[in-house]
Amino acid sequence: MNTFVSKLPKVGETIFTTMSALAQKHSAMNLSQGFPDFSLDELLLECLKKAIIDSSHQYAPMAGLPILREFIAEQWFEKHQFSIDPVSQITITSGATEAIFDAIQAIVHPGDEVIILEPCYDSYIPAILIADAKPITIPLEFPSYQIDFQKIYDAITPKTKAIIINTPNNPTGSIITHEEFLQLEKLFEQFPQLYLISDEVYENIIFDGNKHHSALDYKGLRNRTFAVYSFGKSLHVTGWKIGYCIASPELTLEFRKVHQYVTFSSATPLQHAIYQYLKQNPNYYQELPLFFEKKRNLFLELIQGTQWKPLNCSGTYFILLDYSDISQENDVTFAKKLTEQSGIASIPISVFYENPVDNKVLRFCFGKKEETLQMAAEKLKKIGF
Ligand SMILES: Cc1ncc(COP(=O)(O)O)c(C=O)c1O
Repeated sequence: MNTFVSKLPKVGETIFTTMSALAQKHSAMNLSQGFPDFSLDELLLECLKKAIIDSSHQYAPMAGLPILREFIAEQWFEKHQFSIDPVSQITITSGATEAIFDAIQAIVHPGDEVIILEPCYDSYIPAILIADAKPITIPLEFPSYQIDFQKIYDAITPKTKAIIINTPNNPTGSIITHEEFLQLEKLFEQFPQLYLISDEVYENIIFDGNKHHSALDYKGLRNRTFAVYSFGKSLHVTGWKIGYCIASPELTLEFRKVHQYVTFSSATPLQHAIYQYLKQNPNYYQELPLFFEKKRNLFLELIQGTQWKPLNCSGTYFILLDYSDISQENDVTFAKKLTEQSGIASIPISVFYENPVDNKVLRFCFGKKEETLQMAAEKLKKIGF
């Protein structure tokens, strides 16, 4: 008899599904998953309606609609002051998750090692395991969640093929600074076998006057990097699952070999709608930092004076709250209790580690309507003391 051997034996229901189901069961407010509860821009909705009627409903070109890629390249130049070629360097994907998966499959061979910095987005490890490679996990420094470069140097072996970074970072809200990118550039100079996968899906959600630095901004990293973006995050349409990858022509060639057999292409009307929207509202991204910063500040103001201790949040729409003054229970138990008894769902940070690290912090998504944040804060205020 055949005995089925799972390629992902440790993967079960994700904590996001568990917490959302628990939130629903207990009619709790759901600040666990990372999606907005406000509607998309009216103009984008109009563009979508128009695209559904006017655009093709057949396969888009494998690399994505040329007009959309050209627009991305033009906007890239404005933001970063150097050119990327839309034809050979940009590939539209079905969300950033697909782009991360494709990049890993394109470069990682069985037995290779891939360094990831934890806590991290949950798709990285399964994608590495599917490539028959080994994830090497390095913790970010608690509570700043900055990178300890010595730990990366210590972890590199002849088998190390790639490093995955994420800035601004989900779940921690930390960002990779210019100085840290310079250190990474130095490290890459020393290890010519390394590639970088730079998850930059929250590039436009950055606060306090900080500037987003892309790995591609650094010449020593540029030709060895897959940088990954998501319109789902930047346009408040996570359900559209349209993202893209920017890489050198050589890396893009390999990336597309995978992409073409994972999805071939991504939804044509959605790509048209995004292009039409961007053309009419090219500065949409300039409003995002302040838009989300106001939400972060409101949430912080509302929970001021409570026993919840917020950690620094420089980007993304997530904030970590330290509950160690309220309870010493482990974060999974505490998050479940909070949902069941206090009616507010969050995500415990230990689940973002391969081997759970419990620093007694929970992640709350503040990318929500003002009234949602007010109601959430009311619930949080009642906890503790
Ligand atoms: C850090 C990070 N990377 C990638 C993604 C996936 O983006 P997409 O929805 O475009 O696949 C997310 C979504 O939550 C994320 O937080």
